[in-house]
Amino acid sequence: MTASRPKLFVKSYGCQMNVYDADRMADALAPDGYVAADSAEDADVIVLNTCHIREKASEKVYSELGRIRKMKAETGRSPVVAVAGCVAQAEGAEILRRAPVVDLVVGPQSYQRLPELLRQAKAGARPVDTEFAVEDKFERLAAPTPKAIRGRGVTAFVTVQEGCDKFCTFCVVPYTRGAEASRPVAQIVAETERLVAAGVREVTLLGQNVDAYHGEGPDGRDWSLARLLYELAEIPGLARLRYTTSHPRDMADDLIAAHRDLGKLMPYLHLPVQSGSDRILAAMNRRHTAADYLRLVDRIRAARPDLALSGDFIVGFPGETDADFEATLAIAREAGYASAFTFKYSPRPGTPAAERAAQVDEAVKTERLLRLQALISEQQASFARSLVGRPMEVLLDRPGRHAGQIAGRSPYLQPVQLVAPGAEVGDVIEAVITDVGPNSLFAAPAGDARGSTALLAETAI
Ligand code: 5AD
Ligand code: SF4
Repeated sequence: MTASRPKLFVKSYGCQMNVYDADRMADALAPDGYVAADSAEDADVIVLNTCHIREKASEKVYSELGRIRKMKAETGRSPVVAVAGCVAQAEGAEILRRAPVVDLVVGPQSYQRLPELLRQAKAGARPVDTEFAVEDKFERLAAPTPKAIRGRGVTAFVTVQEGCDKFCTFCVVPYTRGAEASRPVAQIVAETERLVAAGVREVTLLGQNVDAYHGEGPDGRDWSLARLLYELAEIPGLARLRYTTSHPRDMADDLIAAHRDLGKLMPYLHLPVQSGSDRILAAMNRRHTAADYLRLVDRIRAARPDLALSGDFIVGFPGETDADFEATLAIAREAGYASAFTFKYSPRPGTPAAERAAQVDEAVKTERLLRLQALISEQQASFARSLVGRPMEVLLDRPGRHAGQIAGRSPYLQPVQLVAPGAEVGDVIEAVITDVGPNSLFAAPAGDARGSTALLAETAI
């Protein structure tokens, strides 16, 4: 039976929302009998779920399409090739012209239409759907089966908000994901309950501007992200909540209070600042200053003292001088990051900053990127070292690297390796960090870490 079922291969680029969308595309096609393929070579339908955020990400789709064209010629197979995601949204029919191998183009707001679009593509139509449909995409997308959820592990993403109205001058998101829109609370609660019932222990709420969330509550009023988090924290069996990505302007007082009140809300916050120079922040249309950001971080840390920060930075924004870049290094030092993503500014078509005359030289961008990365790596390593001897909860999420080992994640998303006989994937265990490796932490279960009782007492003060 299964031999005749069509096979789907989705390759995702870019952000976590694309990871979530890839699963939802598989869910949408499951009722038509589609099962996952192991590779593109093996698939009847190949979906490239693309990212448009920087030029490099965007160009990857064309090199992948080149490989698929070659594979088709060599193997004589003829899978349907679909381009989805943000490049699909931004370039639309242009993709069909540039890449004859493509059979179908579908933007992020139209995934509920994927089964129908595939039927059209198979009939030879080469459909393009980049509408911002008025219908509720999430309402129409098929829900995953418990078996599919279990196959995806004990952590899951749930998109709660899409799009952005902020219009940072470097960013394509307002154009690719459209205007800011929030899902209703009841829909998110139902989806989260379904995930938890199938064994998920940690849920990360996703949105391009997740702290601007304002979905309709069961009382008919708009609920804030904080209110949604308090509601989700009530779900029995759900151990951990996270949310990403936030804009500093939308970190409301009730959200900061949620960090104080909710044990399930992990003390790890992704709060991009992009630059430490007020002049550049203004040119980026971020609408806050470096001092505003630092004050905000202080307030959040006062509410949740064990909170660690991650961030995003752009170097080489048009007009960025050495002094502006020094201000970026200074804010990174001052705020202190457990980790951060650093990017060279990449001019994106249609965004205001791409039109500026004062583009920064590539060599200067590279040099600044390396200096910032060195600082962030140092901070990341020193943060990891500061955890040694500290007790913390680890969510076990996969078998370990070596026999007898099991692996999990710290509250700060660091991979943790430990030996914990009897413990299973999905358990949250109290552990003491014993050592720091290049890519993970090592820990022992708190109860049996010899001598760690004293350690626990010491570090608990
Ligand atoms: N160039 C470089 N980095 C960018 N980002 C967004 N747009 C650009 C661009 N044009 C970065 C920002 C954002 C992250 C998702 O990607 O730091 O927070
Ligand atoms: Fe890339 Fe942004 Fe689209 Fe995510 S939303 S895939 S980061 S362009």
